[in-house]
Amino acid sequence: MRCVPIKASEASLLHGLYLLTPEYFDLLGTTVPSYQEVFEELVAAEMDRRRHCELLSEGQDLVGYLDWTTDYPGSGDLTVNLLLVATPYQRRGLGSQAARQLEERAPAGTRRILASVYGSNGPAAHFWERRGYRPSNDCGPAVRWYTKILSEGERIHVGHQIRR
Ligand SMILES: CC(C)(COP(=O)(O)OP(=O)(O)OC[C@H]1O[C@@H](n2cnc3c(N)ncnc32)[C@H](O)[C@@H]1OP(=O)(O)O)[C@@H](O)C(=O)NCCC(=O)NCCS
Repeated sequence: MRCVPIKASEASLLHGLYLLTPEYFDLLGTTVPSYQEVFEELVAAEMDRRRHCELLSEGQDLVGYLDWTTDYPGSGDLTVNLLLVATPYQRRGLGSQAARQLEERAPAGTRRILASVYGSNGPAAHFWERRGYRPSNDCGPAVRWYTKILSEGERIHVGHQIRR
């Protein structure tokens, strides 16, 4: 799987992924964001150097989107704001692959990965639990956090010196 940063000028690609995944927005009780809303979100993300918005592709296919923030909520934390695999590509292990790759390429100093799950999104809760994430400090009914403490073996840093 390839994870490539998305620019605001490519908002139509992310909008297309959202249009392919209306069930997610049904679960949240919202409508699929408009192109303009997606564009504005990506512009805002570009101004935050801790935020990483990436398109996920497999072979020739654009299959999903990954949005994560470093050092949030605290130093050494990495929060997954959204992992979305478009409906036609779900249940093939792609979401798991994206999560595993993120654990491996998390920046040096990352100690925890947190995933925020909004609303009553049972499938997402099940997904993160299957990936070894545990429910943590519940921030009320609107959002639930799933957390995984990274072990050293799960972090592979290019150029990282191995000390014995
Ligand atoms: C959650 C999501 C990312 C999972 O991606 P995926 O590629 O379908 O997941 P995988 O194929 O890697 O599935 C891994 C495990 O997650 C669980 N899972 C995935 N989709 C599920 C679903 N719809 N219902 C219940 N469990 C689900 C399963 O346990 C699955 O393994 P199993 O089938 O062997 O039991 C995807 O369904 C999605 O994008 N949903 C919409 C957006 C969303 O809710 N994102 C999560 C909030 S950050």
